[in-house]
Amino acid sequence: MRAGFGAGMADWTATVHEISLEENGETAGRLAVPGKLVYAPGQYFLAQAIGEPTPPAHTLFPSTLPGLEIGASAPLPSGWQPGMQLALSGPFGSSFHLPSSSRRVALAAPAGRTGPLLPLVELSLKQGADVTLYLNGFAAGLPAAVEVQPLSGLRAGFAWADYMAINAPDNPPGSLRSWLGLEHQQAVPFLVEVLLTGSFPCGGLAACGVCAVKTRRGYKLACKDGPVFLLNNLEL
Ligand code: FES
Repeated sequence: MRAGFGAGMADWTATVHEISLEENGETAGRLAVPGKLVYAPGQYFLAQAIGEPTPPAHTLFPSTLPGLEIGASAPLPSGWQPGMQLALSGPFGSSFHLPSSSRRVALAAPAGRTGPLLPLVELSLKQGADVTLYLNGFAAGLPAAVEVQPLSGLRAGFAWADYMAINAPDNPPGSLRSWLGLEHQQAVPFLVEVLLTGSFPCGGLAACGVCAVKTRRGYKLACKDGPVFLLNNLEL
């Protein structure tokens, strides 16, 4: 069913099917959708509770590959409850680019926010890659084949991986590069992609500028030019 916002994008009515509590106290969920939405890992939707005075729309990152139910990554708005109907618009933005040749995949989730990386876990295992997830804490529902390492092991991951995806920390101490143990101009010799999550209140219409991010080609908008960026292009 068309829901009516986000001109030119697919708009849907989704139903909150399940809400679950994450290890870090945030809530995630599952949404029932009326058809198989087409999106790629890293892209996002805007979701607004129908009939609820809750603007602006929530920036929703799927935690599953497309299906008749989609996982909704934490954190979700506190008022969302099972049965609630949502106007869903999207997908928006750029996606991850997992190389089909990749066999050693490193994923990093500071703050324990694994949700947007989980579709990459599915894709990586499908293509026969070894997957290591770096985070502090516990991640529920991971396939047994995924090795979990503390974030302190991430620097060693740069010597092991042939592809890496990072759900960037909201406020890394110092720059993102120094947090990763890299020098300011140090290029990484394999594909490292960084997902900049956050709230994108104007929904990719590039009107508000709150998501501006500094890159080697000047300022870009995470909602429109991202939210997935090459680490080597970021000035963070
Ligand atoms: S969220 Fe408004 S320009 Fe990106």
